[in-house]
Amino acid sequence: MRSVWRNLSLLTCDDARRVFVDGAIVTEGDTITWVGAAKDLPAGIAADRTIELAGRWLTPGLIDCHTHIVFGGQRAAEFARRTAGTSYADIAREGGGILNTVRATRAASVDELVRRSEPRLRALLQEGVTTVEIKSGYGLDFESERRMLLAARALAQRLPVAVVTSLLAAHAAPPEFKGREDDYIDLICREWLPRFAQEHGLIDMVDAYCESIAFSATQCDRLFTAAKAHGWPVRLHAEQISNIGGSRMAARHGALACDHLEYATEDDAIALARAGTVAVLLPVAYYVLADPRLPPLDLFRTHRVPMAVASDANPGSAPGASLQTAMNMARRLFGMTSGEVLDGVTRNAARALGLGDRLGQIAPGFRADFAAWSIDTPDELGYWIGFNPCSMIVRGGEIVLERDA
Ligand code: NIG
Ligand code: FE
Repeated sequence: MRSVWRNLSLLTCDDARRVFVDGAIVTEGDTITWVGAAKDLPAGIAADRTIELAGRWLTPGLIDCHTHIVFGGQRAAEFARRTAGTSYADIAREGGGILNTVRATRAASVDELVRRSEPRLRALLQEGVTTVEIKSGYGLDFESERRMLLAARALAQRLPVAVVTSLLAAHAAPPEFKGREDDYIDLICREWLPRFAQEHGLIDMVDAYCESIAFSATQCDRLFTAAKAHGWPVRLHAEQISNIGGSRMAARHGALACDHLEYATEDDAIALARAGTVAVLLPVAYYVLADPRLPPLDLFRTHRVPMAVASDANPGSAPGASLQTAMNMARRLFGMTSGEVLDGVTRNAARALGLGDRLGQIAPGFRADFAAWSIDTPDELGYWIGFNPCSMIVRGGEIVLERDA
């Protein structure tokens, strides 16, 4: 089916960041075949259908490249303690935080996890998100991690969103391995990775939390070596509340992404740039944890580290599920421009998932995933708070959602 999309303005997010105020797109099936100014549409193009967008702005479908939306329970009581002054790290050291969610997640079946997580995924979809990364990491035993990943895959069958999964078994040491982090990493490397490798298509990449309250750079290094031997790309939660060398280690592995990075240094930025690793900025977690330190945006700019922005949706540091909130916070709290933020939720987010040659740009050969916006100017992206101007979502060349905006 050949479709012509017209009467629209276009933010392509392609390599030249082209903008067409009166633009047009041609798609064949699920793929974009032509993009340009409406006046340049090839004459005599035999379209099976023409879709008029009433002057709306079109961007690539947004990509939320870092979420933990599959989990059981909630941590509202911890939020109350944190707002009263107890730190995230102190709660984690007491056995709360991530381990609190582990207890609720272990108790949940796949069906329950899907039922609890579906509204969160729907909220992201309605904001224009067509691809979402979902991590495990609240199971911390083989079967519970597997249930989380099965739930993530099941969600992709229920809603028109592409799901990319990350195994985050190294999110925290489970209670049964308290103080024996090395043994836990060995167990993941020796037993879990080979078992997951047999279940083709369950895991797309391997992630870890490198932090004083989680795993050391050496432990994450061992995990990455094992993961890569199975062919999985790697990425890392690094330098969130301290700097223990995670991002430099991840860069040595050619990691797709390093996420958080509040405590990254200039050497870290140089290493990420050389490796082509995407810096994934998570302003909602920065805001919720009332982080005292901003990620070094100017160093990332100076050294040309590609930057992405993600929701980090999770029950602890970023409760909720809103990429648009993250976009607003990236502008207000991190001083990113609207163009940097848009790149961060499209082309650079795709790259953070290893999908930069097929997703995140409106360009020939890319998948026809679009979000249409009822806005007057692109500066409105990441401007509105708690108001959603997304009015149509197209996935693989088909309109999958329309809403008043
Ligand atoms: O990305 N930093 C580690 N992981 C999550 C938080 C998980 C949680 O608190 O439940 C994050 O912020
Ligand atoms: Fe995270």
